[in-house]
Amino acid sequence: MADRKAYLDMGDGRGKIELPVLEGTMGPDVVDIRNLSRHNIFTYDPGFVSTASCSSSISFIDGEKSILLYRGYPIEQLADQADFMDVSYLLMHGELPNRSEKERFVSRVSKHTMVHDQMLTFFRGFRRDAHPMAVMVGMVGALSAFYHDSLDMANFQHREVAAYRLISKVPTLAAMCYKYSIGQPFQYPRNDLSYVANFLHMMFATPCAAYPVNPVVARALEQIFILHADHEQNASTSTVRLAGSSGASPFACVAAGIASLWGPAHGGANEAVLDMLTQIGDVSNIKDFIQRAKDPKDPFRLMGFGHRVYKNYDPRASVLRDSCHQVLDELSLEDNRLFQVALELEKIALDDDYFMTRKLYPNVDFYSGLLLHAMGIPSNMFTVIFTIARTIGWTAQWNEMASDPDRKIGRPRQLYMGNEPRDFVPLDRRA
Ligand code: SDX
Repeated sequence: MADRKAYLDMGDGRGKIELPVLEGTMGPDVVDIRNLSRHNIFTYDPGFVSTASCSSSISFIDGEKSILLYRGYPIEQLADQADFMDVSYLLMHGELPNRSEKERFVSRVSKHTMVHDQMLTFFRGFRRDAHPMAVMVGMVGALSAFYHDSLDMANFQHREVAAYRLISKVPTLAAMCYKYSIGQPFQYPRNDLSYVANFLHMMFATPCAAYPVNPVVARALEQIFILHADHEQNASTSTVRLAGSSGASPFACVAAGIASLWGPAHGGANEAVLDMLTQIGDVSNIKDFIQRAKDPKDPFRLMGFGHRVYKNYDPRASVLRDSCHQVLDELSLEDNRLFQVALELEKIALDDDYFMTRKLYPNVDFYSGLLLHAMGIPSNMFTVIFTIARTIGWTAQWNEMASDPDRKIGRPRQLYMGNEPRDFVPLDRRA
């Protein structure tokens, strides 16, 4: 389409400023404001509600139509037909792998699953009851101390090996966090198992007994990994990109992303959902909690509800609700009280004007916690599971940013509301 323009008139007599309008493959057009600072003007958008921070080809969300695409493939089809290695390769390389590409990718991922043995001593410094996300921030950040020799961001091979190390070592470190918290010995990874089965092995096997992987549970966990793998420029992905824009170690950048994901408004919500369902306890208490969530004076919010982008159903929540039914049925937990509370809470909230007018629907975190709880994963490990899945998204987004020849260091400006210039006051003349 011909070069479209937007015009900005600041109303201060300097006339109209012409700004290019850019169109993506899908989604809203953007006004290119890169040259606005030459007019000594900034835009103001705390929380980046209306700001595109980059151009990307990795994932796409349409919040009104409940669409999520990974490299153009609908999330529902990937959750139903793909495995996590398919999706990891797709996010990193842009296409689904053919048979030989997939075999090579899976083989390389399995060759990087062990961590340097000296990393085991770092765990000793943590209390056994430290939150696993705090340990993950430390342990993934510590990887940057072991791989400083191959970190030229401009070098594709260096970026590729860092990606394999992150995809492969994060599940190993995650399982080690869990083992350390329960006082069991670490389980080394097994290269003969699939990515998901290997993680379940490292989590639940002991030197005394192997862990027989239930295929229904393994498939449900793989769907959780697929559904959480990437999600445009969410808070933790934006954190990884901003940290990476300075040329920092990708391991340190992903550690920053883990810190951001931990927040209860972001990936920490799945743990908060289970705590909330446990606090509600019974369907008879739901109406009281709904009232609290609607009370502007009460800080309580319905965890697992609402989303910055989805103003309709989160397509990932729909897949996970069906998966919940299957797993709870397989494990004979169908009358699971928490699941009944969740189903009734969803029904009541979706019938309530407060939630409907604000377009607050269940998001991905609403059902993931129930599923993980049914699998025997403790709630303080839920966001660690999210971390394993999102590591491929962070890595793909970091790689896309690092390989961009036009990459610039991220350096936002501000609307200054502080003091105007004033002279220093010596101590003996201060009031
Ligand atoms: C994830 O960005 C991503 O893509 C994230 C994620 C990913 O894959 O990376 O999808 C993963 O983080 C999912 C979101 C998980 N978080 C939660 O479930 C926490 C509960 N949700 C809220 O904190 C909130 O909905 C957010 C943070 C998710 C979104 O907040 P916004 O877009 O900034 O919206 P807002 O806070 O401005 O709320 C708009 C209105 C407000 O009411 P009014 O001031 O208009 O009267 O809706 C209300 C809010 O009070 N509201 C809620 C609510 N969420 C918003 N009221 C009750 N319960 C809630 N959950």
